[in-house]
Amino acid sequence: MNAMKSLVILISGRGSNMESLLAAVSAGTLPARVAGVLSNRADAGGLATAAALGVPTRVVDHRAFADREAFDLAMAEAIDAFAPDLVVLAGFMRILGDGFVQRYAGRLINIHPSLLPAFPGLHTHRRALEEGVRIHGCTVHFVTPALDHGPVIVQAAVPVLDADDEASLAARVLAQEHRVYPLAVRWFAENRLRLKEGRALLDAPQDAGGALIAPFVPPAPPPLST
Ligand code: GRF
Repeated sequence: MNAMKSLVILISGRGSNMESLLAAVSAGTLPARVAGVLSNRADAGGLATAAALGVPTRVVDHRAFADREAFDLAMAEAIDAFAPDLVVLAGFMRILGDGFVQRYAGRLINIHPSLLPAFPGLHTHRRALEEGVRIHGCTVHFVTPALDHGPVIVQAAVPVLDADDEASLAARVLAQEHRVYPLAVRWFAENRLRLKEGRALLDAPQDAGGALIAPFVPPAPPPLST
C-alpha cells in the first residue's frame, strides 16, 4: 500500500480553507496528513486554529527579506523541512516567483475565488458584481508562473442574485470553496490527479449531463399527449 500523502498548507489570513482541509482529514474523507501550516504573516488568524488542532506552524515573514527571491527561498526551505508531497495555497497572498513555482511543479495548487479565467487577481466578488455576471464561483488550479492562470482542476459555480452585495456573494462562493478544495486534494492524495503537458488530468467520475442556469429557469412541462 502507498504511504499516505503529506501536505503543507500556506496561508496569510483567517484560514477557513485550511480549516476545511483539516476538518476533512479528521472526518476521514481526506486521506492525507497535514505536516505543517506556514504563513508569511505572524498575525494570520489561521495559525492559532492550526496550532490548536496540533498542527505544527511556522512563520516566514516576507518583510524580513530584501527581495522576492530571498523570501521565496526561505519559504521553500521551510516547506522542504516538512518534505510534503503537495503544497496547498489557501488564501496565501504573496505572489511566488518562477523559481519557486518550478521547484514545486505538479505539486503546488491554489484556490481562487472566481471562475477562472474570469477575474484573476484581487476583489473578484466586487468585480463580478460590477460586470453584472449571473454566474460566479471558485477554481482550484495547479500553479504555474502566470498569476491565477494554471490548469484548472475543479470549479464550483454559484448564482449571482440581484440582492447580492460583496459580502453575500463572497459567503456563497466561500461555502463552495470549502467543498471543492478538500475534494481536489483528495484526488491528489488518491493518485487520481496529476499535471501532464499543461493540463490537469483527473481520474474521477464525470457527469456530462449537468447544466447550471442562473437565474434558475424551471424545466418546461412535458408536452401534452394528443
Ligand atoms: C479565499 O476566498 C481564497 O479563495 C482566496 O482567499 C480567501 C482566503 O480565505 N485565495 P481563507 O483564509 O481560506 O478563509
